[in-house]
Amino acid sequence: MSPNAVYHAAFQLVRGPFVLGLCAGVLAGCTRSEKGEAAEAKTEAAEAHESHEDELTPFQLKNGIGPITEEVKVGPVDKGLAAQGEKAFSAKCTACHKIGEKYVGPALGGVTERRTPTYVMNMILNPQEMYEKHPVARELLGEFMTQMPNLGLTRDEARAIMEYLRTQGAAAAAAK
Ligand code: HEC
Repeated sequence: MSPNAVYHAAFQLVRGPFVLGLCAGVLAGCTRSEKGEAAEAKTEAAEAHESHEDELTPFQLKNGIGPITEEVKVGPVDKGLAAQGEKAFSAKCTACHKIGEKYVGPALGGVTERRTPTYVMNMILNPQEMYEKHPVARELLGEFMTQMPNLGLTRDEARAIMEYLRTQGAAAAAAK
């Protein structure tokens, strides 16, 4: 072995733990600062939360925040519309929602009984603003730890899904 190679091998031996130690130090520093930032972000979110809640109108508290700004009136169930809604629901929502039990998101059986039909449509059409600003949606986000995505549905599609959900009341859901 040439003296150079011996020197090199010794260097490798010494460098191993040193490099490891340095990495661990950097990582620890990193985690600490991330934690600090997360805490700050949390405080900001809490502040934003309070101010947003003050900004919500009584209509928005009841019917959600979104493109629907007039209460959607519903009558007796329109079966044709509900059938369309069921198709759309199966295609776009069942990855995360079931009717009778919690999944990635809340069980949707009986949702039109616990929320207004307009609220349900705004949740479908404008989920981000809902879970950021509406106290009910924010609480669900905290519980489910998943952000409901905006699936880009039209109002008509959202209306049809809402009609379908009206046929899936709490009693129907319990029977599933
Ligand atoms: C990627 C998963 C995911 C998809 C896809 C999804 N959702 Fe959601 N949804 C959630 C989660 C999680 C929540 C609760 C937390 C939140 O608001 O982000 C939620 C909340 C809801 C709520 C509010 C429930 C309540 O009790 O207030 C409704 C209504 C809803 N979703 C309907 C739908 C419909 C209809 C579709 C299909 C067009 C759909 N979601 C697609 C995950 C999803």
